Amino acid sequence: MKNNKSLILGIETSCDETALAIMHGFELIHQITATQWIHEEYGGVVPEYASREHEKLLPAILDEILNKTAIELSEFDGIAVTRGPGLAGSLLVGLSFAKGLAVALDIPLYGINHIEGHIFANFIGQELLPTPFLCLLVSGGHTQIVHVKSMEDFSLIGTSRDDAAGEAFDKVARLLGIGYPGGPLIDKLSQSGNAKFHHFPRTNFKEGYDFSFSGLKTSVMYYVKDKSPEFINENLADIAASFQEAVVDALVGHAIKAATDLKLNRIVLAGGVAANTRLREKISTKSKTLHIKVYQPELHYCTDNAAMIAYLGYWKHLKKDASSLAMKAIPNLKLSFRN
Ligand code: KG4
Ligand code: ZN
Repeated sequence: MKNNKSLILGIETSCDETALAIMHGFELIHQITATQWIHEEYGGVVPEYASREHEKLLPAILDEILNKTAIELSEFDGIAVTRGPGLAGSLLVGLSFAKGLAVALDIPLYGINHIEGHIFANFIGQELLPTPFLCLLVSGGHTQIVHVKSMEDFSLIGTSRDDAAGEAFDKVARLLGIGYPGGPLIDKLSQSGNAKFHHFPRTNFKEGYDFSFSGLKTSVMYYVKDKSPEFINENLADIAASFQEAVVDALVGHAIKAATDLKLNRIVLAGGVAANTRLREKISTKSKTLHIKVYQPELHYCTDNAAMIAYLGYWKHLKKDASSLAMKAIPNLKLSFRN
């Protein structure tokens, strides 16, 4: 394997996916993402269980990825690890594992911002980035419109004032008794539903590009409250599709307006909700007529993965931008905006 390109191991443990990936230069060699299904029966992520699962899974996945790729630990040139944002205990497990490897192998450690990972997941494997672009970052914890001028220069254009889009999907799925994880289940169910079945409200602020999804969630709650279980069951796909359409309308409307106002002809989708079928379809259709190019990550790069962490790790490795071994996990780590 060894030539002049470096070999980076990426580690992602910010929430309920335990993931490892290996980059050789800009080339992804292999990645493994293990979803922790233990949370399913609780209808949401239980932080304590998430950390314990990471601790159990990390050494097993490391063995698996080394066996699959026939790479030896001694061949790595750097370790990249998510330092935030995320669940404190989960981040700590990943960070301790990464630090242990970095010390044992005497190689540099690179702390990575998970949100930056999502933004640049679209370009895994690429050396040239098509900046500037507008990023619609939609995950379980974030709903943001970010003007990405370069890898280090971001401006926040709009954000959710309450729930994140993914959070709204998960809460409404729970409310409708659809289960966990809510986003992918609502997406699947909606494919056989009528999005015009019921018009749920879209919150629009007078100015700017901010979002609000808590009113939408409450209106779904009131809508189902006075309906019989039979009615809900019979019309579940239609209700799910109508809710999903309201979220997608807000996301697509704001992103396209911001791109047009800023004269940006590229929109990049990022984060777990970027896997949503209707969002991908609607933003592509609307952008086409405006000559805006839409970048959509492959599905396994939308949700949490370690390839995006290893990729940014390799960029840091090239810049010799190593982190200290004293680096701490930062559960509420933000993107650093220039303005
Ligand atoms: O980016 P991600 O994997 O983790 C965070 O950093 O938050 O995003 C997870 C979120 C969850 O809320 C999940 O329900 C949502 O992304 N999600 C989806 C879809 N796939 C995942 N939401 C809507 N449609 C999907 N297909
Ligand atoms: Zn994420």
